[in-house]
Amino acid sequence: MTTGHVFIAISLDGFIARRDGNIDWLMKQQTSGEDHGYDAFMASVDGIIMGRGTFEKVLTFGDWSYPKPVVVMSGTLNDADIPGDLRDKVQVSALGPAEIMRELADKGWARAYVDGGRVIQSFLQAGLISDMTLTHIPVLIGEGLPLFGKLDRDIDLEHLETRSFPSGLVSSTYRVRQAGNRTP
Ligand SMILES: NC(=O)c1ccc[n+]([C@@H]2O[C@H](COP(=O)([O-])OP(=O)(O)OC[C@H]3O[C@@H](n4cnc5c(N)ncnc54)[C@H](OP(=O)(O)O)[C@@H]3O)[C@@H](O)[C@H]2O)c1
Repeated sequence: MTTGHVFIAISLDGFIARRDGNIDWLMKQQTSGEDHGYDAFMASVDGIIMGRGTFEKVLTFGDWSYPKPVVVMSGTLNDADIPGDLRDKVQVSALGPAEIMRELADKGWARAYVDGGRVIQSFLQAGLISDMTLTHIPVLIGEGLPLFGKLDRDIDLEHLETRSFPSGLVSSTYRVRQAGNRTP
């Protein structure tokens, strides 16, 4: 089966965007000259699975910067909703996490970049995330869209590496261990 990998920026209080999807707090960071590992991570995956929320946000940027194929998870969009210039790069899937991973494995994907808060949560719940690189941005935004949510069990993580940067960004990588049971 294809393995899932997360690479995402979060506010120190755990949000990936404001409630309305705004990521101004992320875009204003002055990080020029720093290599946070994004290009190496992107080179390591066969493609990207993202939620419809993330896809709609990315479309507002104008430029399409993904060098790999993208699968957008959505039960409300279909391939006809994809802008014409992206149709050879993006496909929509209404499948669930496990079914998508099986389908992508059949297509030869070994590693998928999984992106979007709700999508990451559902892949974590399904045990389909192998590792996560979380880059903490030194800001508190108080409320917003959370990266993590409710779980029906604890998920143990193994810390692999933490790197800090002059800008104040702190990037930590965790391997997802086998899910543990909660003791009552
Ligand atoms: N800080 C960062 O690095 C970073 C990274 C990525 C995204 N973001 C931000 O995060 C925001 C979007 O995140 P989000 O959590 O709201 O949405 P999301 O995870 O990107 O997308 C959620 C949508 O995906 C669809 N979906 C289909 N199958 C699903 C499943 N099994 N589990 C979950 N969703 C499924 C649903 O859309 P349908 O209703 O169409 O079925 C759902 O509403 C954007 O504002 C984006 O800018 C930030």
